[in-house]
Amino acid sequence: MGSFVIKATDLKREIITTADGSHSLYVPELDEHYHSYHGSIKESQRVFIDLGLNYVSENHETIAILEVGMGTGLNVLMTALANEGLKKNIRYDAVEAFPLEDELLNQLNYADQLLHPSAKEIFESIHQAPWNDAAQLTDLFTLTKIEAPIEAIDFSPEQYDLIYFDAFAPEVQGELWTSELFAKMYSILKPGGVLSTYCVKGDVKRALQEQGFTIEKHKGPEGGKREVLRGVK
Ligand SMILES: C[S@@+](CC[C@H](N)C(=O)[O-])C[C@H]1O[C@@H](n2cnc3c(N)ncnc32)[C@H](O)[C@@H]1O
Repeated sequence: MGSFVIKATDLKREIITTADGSHSLYVPELDEHYHSYHGSIKESQRVFIDLGLNYVSENHETIAILEVGMGTGLNVLMTALANEGLKKNIRYDAVEAFPLEDELLNQLNYADQLLHPSAKEIFESIHQAPWNDAAQLTDLFTLTKIEAPIEAIDFSPEQYDLIYFDAFAPEVQGELWTSELFAKMYSILKPGGVLSTYCVKGDVKRALQEQGFTIEKHKGPEGGKREVLRGVK
């Protein structure tokens, strides 16, 4: 899977507006978007909040989340806002190999689009938080942004309840959709833990199943991808 390995940290990114009005980033060199062009917020809500966070919240009061590919921080923001209703104790580790510049982050319209009174403040806190150190975003939400390639991190086993697997697509970055990396994801999830992702490609499903994940296909975001995926350990 995948045709080349991303090495450049200086990829050019352009801000685009997706179908639900929320911004995303386009990387011309890779011909790849950071989110679904059908709607960044809609995608995050469906794939990671509805099928991941809300599902895991049904039987947990304390939730440890790992995000693979933090990018703009939209999934962190959506999770922190959803938690204002859920009121769980969340530890969120967000891994990013190529952090975005403040100049770009400051132009993103998520806080305006979400119309939530805390959105702006939380989005700013996410990006002001230091790298590689824990930051208290809210009373119930601790964020650690980890600047490293996911492949290079040594995790202790069975520590996460939920993984948001939000890497670039397999066609662009095949090295992140391999059996080897999925074995690592499986080992760091607690039994019953969940991996959510937008990709339902046959090769990806098979690679996840080979590692022991039970695969569930679910309806995608309205107006977007037909199906998205939840893997359960
Ligand atoms: C599809 S975008 C993620 C979008 C992001 N979740 C958001 O809401 O903006 C993929 C992200 O993975 C990051 N990435 C690429 N290679 C990586 C690696 N080896 N380890 C961790 N992150 C990586 C990219 O820089 C990019 O931010």
